[in-house]
Amino acid sequence: MENFSFVNPVKIIFGKGTIQQIKDEIPSDNKVLIIYGGGSIRKNGVYDQVMNALSGYEVHEFSGIEPNPHYETCMKVVDVIKEKGVDYLLAVGGGSVIDATKFIVAAAYFESGDPWDILSKGAEIKKALPFGTVLTLPATGSEMNDGSVISRIGIQEKLSFGSPLVYPKFSVLDPTTTYTLPPRQVGNGVVDTFVHITEQYLTHYDGDSMLQDKMFEGLLRTIVEEGPKALKTPTDYDVRANLMWASSWALNGWFGEGAPQDWATHMIGHELTAFYGLDHAQTLAIILPGVMRVMWRSKFKKIRSLGYEVFGIYKVDQASTVDETIKAVEEFFESMGVKTHLSDYGLGDEAIDKVCKRMEERQWKLGESGDITPDVIREILTLRK
Ligand code: NZQ
Ligand code: ZN
Repeated sequence: MENFSFVNPVKIIFGKGTIQQIKDEIPSDNKVLIIYGGGSIRKNGVYDQVMNALSGYEVHEFSGIEPNPHYETCMKVVDVIKEKGVDYLLAVGGGSVIDATKFIVAAAYFESGDPWDILSKGAEIKKALPFGTVLTLPATGSEMNDGSVISRIGIQEKLSFGSPLVYPKFSVLDPTTTYTLPPRQVGNGVVDTFVHITEQYLTHYDGDSMLQDKMFEGLLRTIVEEGPKALKTPTDYDVRANLMWASSWALNGWFGEGAPQDWATHMIGHELTAFYGLDHAQTLAIILPGVMRVMWRSKFKKIRSLGYEVFGIYKVDQASTVDETIKAVEEFFESMGVKTHLSDYGLGDEAIDKVCKRMEERQWKLGESGDITPDVIREILTLRK
């Protein structure tokens, strides 16, 4: 196991009826800005619960954060914060609302140039406003990590940043808020969680990090078992609770420590969303099987463990182990309603050229060993037509 030093400061408030506890977390004299998306929280009662919990506070609100949140919209929120003198933000929604809030709290205090530099140049964040979250879509882990992904529509870019200053102070995880998720978002959430785990688990590593591996296998087995149940019985509390807690652990940082991480699937996927607007999880469902196929030699040990521990696959020869495991992953994604080929989304050679050109411009070498070059990306995408 490699050396590491890590802290995750996010307070988790988990369970039924816990939204009311946000009032215990936000100082009573603070001006609060609630940030949310396109209105799902107004339909499912979450908005009312939040407003009740905040009675007595000076509350402002901003709605209209888009899925794959836009930089342009985030900057409008920064203006509202300055105009109203907001002290504390509350993100109510899925990963997009939480990611937008992370960028906003950093941009509000960013004084050394254009806040876009935080994303495009990794400009240092020195200060950020405090914020909490009420999660309504288990998927990204954003409620319990310090990362954020923002899209700039004008230039078709989707970029990420991270800073310990943008950890939420607290996150409320009430699984009943997820009962109203449409099947497409249930599937997206499970696929995203699955791929967060494989980006950290399915890596080439000569050392041993058995505890992390077993934790990840437990998470994978949980979502493979519970994911399909959430589609069949949307109001099964324990199913929703297991999925919600698993998605936070998949990307809260703890199990990723001590071993190398990959993230190639995510980085290629972000370009497909930037150019063509695919849902984040749709891009991952296309690309992960391609990464497994092209990189199978270096990842073989872990592909075999994934097959055996999660899907019960045992084959004597390497080729069938890899084939069967990739097939099981694809079938699982498809069973969650998320299609796994570019052509399923009307994309083909033109998309491959565009993504590869951008990867060449960026000169990124992806993967845990830095060997996923633009040529390898072309091979991966071509396999996924
Ligand atoms: O906008 P509203 O009306 O709220 O509707 C949302 C949205 O249309 C809806 N929804 C959310 N909760 C609901 C609900 N509908 C009914 N009932 C509920 N309880 O779901 C739609 C999608 O929401 P969104 O927040 O976009 O989805 P998700 O949580 O999958 O977030 C995706 C974003 O997170 C980024 C992705 O790149 C993408 O931009 N990621 C963030 C990460 C992080 N910060 O660590 C890591 C991830 O890998 C990912 O990149
Ligand atoms: Zn993801």
